[in-house]
Amino acid sequence: MYKEYQKEAQKIISKMTLKEKIGQLNQITITPYMNDIKNLHSMIRNGEVGSIILASSATAGNDPQGHVNVDLYNELQKIAVEESRMGIPMIYGRDVIHGHRTVYPLPLASASAFNDSLIEKCYRNIAEEATADGIRWTFSPMLDICHDPRWGRIVEGPGEDPYVGAQMAKACVKGFQGDDLTDKTSLVACAKHYLGYGFSEGGKDYFRTEISDATLQNYVLPAFRAAVDCGVGTVMSSFNDINGIPVSGSKKYLNDILRGQLGFEGFVVSDWGAVEQQEAMGFAEDRKDCAKNSIKAGLDLDMCDKCYIENLEALVNEGQVSEETINLAVERMLCVKLAMGLFQRPYGEKHDYDKEMHLADARELAAESMVLLKNDGVLPLKKDANIALFGPFVSERRSLLGTWSLDGSEKDTPTICEAMSAAKSGGKLIVHNTNGLFDNSEYLSTDADVIVLALGESHWTTGEHHSVSDISLYASQIDLINRMRSTGKKVVGVFFCGRPMALEGVVENLDAVLYAWHSGSETANAACDILFGDVVPSGKTPVTFPRKATHIPLYYNITASSHPVNGYYGDHPQDNYTDSIATPLYPFGFGLSYTKFEYSNLVVDKQEITLEDLKQGAKFDVSISVTNIGDYDGKETVQLYIRDKVASLMRPMRELKGYKKELIKQNQTTNVNFQLSYNDLGFYNENGEYLVEKGEFEIYVGENCLTENKLSIKVV
Ligand code: NOJ
Repeated sequence: MYKEYQKEAQKIISKMTLKEKIGQLNQITITPYMNDIKNLHSMIRNGEVGSIILASSATAGNDPQGHVNVDLYNELQKIAVEESRMGIPMIYGRDVIHGHRTVYPLPLASASAFNDSLIEKCYRNIAEEATADGIRWTFSPMLDICHDPRWGRIVEGPGEDPYVGAQMAKACVKGFQGDDLTDKTSLVACAKHYLGYGFSEGGKDYFRTEISDATLQNYVLPAFRAAVDCGVGTVMSSFNDINGIPVSGSKKYLNDILRGQLGFEGFVVSDWGAVEQQEAMGFAEDRKDCAKNSIKAGLDLDMCDKCYIENLEALVNEGQVSEETINLAVERMLCVKLAMGLFQRPYGEKHDYDKEMHLADARELAAESMVLLKNDGVLPLKKDANIALFGPFVSERRSLLGTWSLDGSEKDTPTICEAMSAAKSGGKLIVHNTNGLFDNSEYLSTDADVIVLALGESHWTTGEHHSVSDISLYASQIDLINRMRSTGKKVVGVFFCGRPMALEGVVENLDAVLYAWHSGSETANAACDILFGDVVPSGKTPVTFPRKATHIPLYYNITASSHPVNGYYGDHPQDNYTDSIATPLYPFGFGLSYTKFEYSNLVVDKQEITLEDLKQGAKFDVSISVTNIGDYDGKETVQLYIRDKVASLMRPMRELKGYKKELIKQNQTTNVNFQLSYNDLGFYNENGEYLVEKGEFEIYVGENCLTENKLSIKVV
């Protein structure tokens, strides 16, 4: 896809000086030059800038970033195109992560929707909006699989499952890039953070990781494989080291695996400072050494730390780096620029888009992302009920947008209080923001039929450089729940969070729990859609919810153990720890509805297939009947897991291999079919070779990873 532009790129390169080539590998941020714009102009004119990042700080996710300005970008681009000797356009990138003007649910929340086509549609909308502001490249999707919710960035990724990660990767890349990369609404995607960043020890951001090659292949790489397979244009190298080797200086990860095994053809950009940090990590002597490591490893574009522009020329002149290595990196940069049609249409083109439709899609995805964790019959609420709405999130706007919403408008984001008063048809709404010193909620609740508590965590406790040591709910919120419980009224908890929190001892004191996440511009409206029954909840957890914070790491796709200490699947949970039961509070794939689904008749069309036939394309057809036996039409995400009973590499007790989200009407039965093929039944060994081994596989199909609907097949 990008390599087809190789010849054209080489032709351009043959006319470039070494300095101009190195300029192509240099990305800068505009901000420091805003008071020195002449200097910026001359750098561009001299061919020293290949790309500009539209962010003013390295940790842009929670810092204010200033406004986008397409006129300024075009003015600078004009200098690159018309006044630099080679006339090569620059590529502008911005962190358009889960929305641009319209903000969609954070990726972890979107993953809960298990609705790939809706996610793709929303990411297409995002691309339309961002390109209207002159942005043609985004640093998204973030594909870091994570087992530790203390990590602030868990919210930016798909959660704990590689299959969900791969599905998200495909939906986001397709949505951003569209069908035609040269279209003015196409946004080049960037799969990040390659590699293993989500495995940082203790959930501490930027920290070390220890990842075996087999774990890397089977847990960490699948989402990147999927992104590469659907043509992602760029990949960002991560800050972390893996087993003592910084990824941004590693030929093994950037070249051998990414390009050799995965077949990636685009360019690799470093994370901001990931080149120069090798000095601090004790992997390079100085900045020059950092540049040498990274360029030799296969890192093409240096984000903002100037190591390349300052050192590559000397490294080539001294014979430490060959000009061929530089040419290759430039070629990859140019191939992407050519594939985008940037040479023909270098300027940002303002265009209209259907803002109302984008908001409607955001509301739909937000509602599908929210997970109903508990309901003792109190939900849905009547629109004319007397409702007491209390809690620290009653008037919150900013956190609902979530981290990394650079261009979303806080003032246009409704609060839960505003959304609820708009949705109600009568009755009282008694509102009290319980952040104050004096809290008379008990007294105020006297007139209420039901109490709704708006709870959760600030966006400030999530995102880059914002990990927490404890994922328990705050004591003040627990206290509020307990006090409301003692009124004897029904109490509903709505949680606006960016990670799974440890809620044992909390949910017991609530009659219903809606996990609303930080779901973007339409969070509050979508939560009300569910609370009042206009939408029947259908989200499912893409991460395990542990009972206690101390049970981390707890994830569903673990291997079996020699002793019954596993706990996840209910096998002797009391043997895990002497002081607590460490089964999940809510397992992976869990989520309730207002209606009820009954599963029956799990069948497979054949008991066995030979390995040879499987390789030739034979498949197992698995199907199950799902009946809606409740009182509402509703959507159910039917999930299929496998367990490879015996293999040369221990396999997880469950591995998700398929899901289908179906709308099933009341009293209706739907047959849900899955196919299992060669690509579903294997695993990668530590060398990255894909293997399917003969033997028995258990197949589980149901409502979450603990389903007991099971059959068995054989590869012979
Ligand atoms: C650092 C973050 O790790 C990365 O995700 C982001 O894209 C860059 N900064 C650019 O803002």
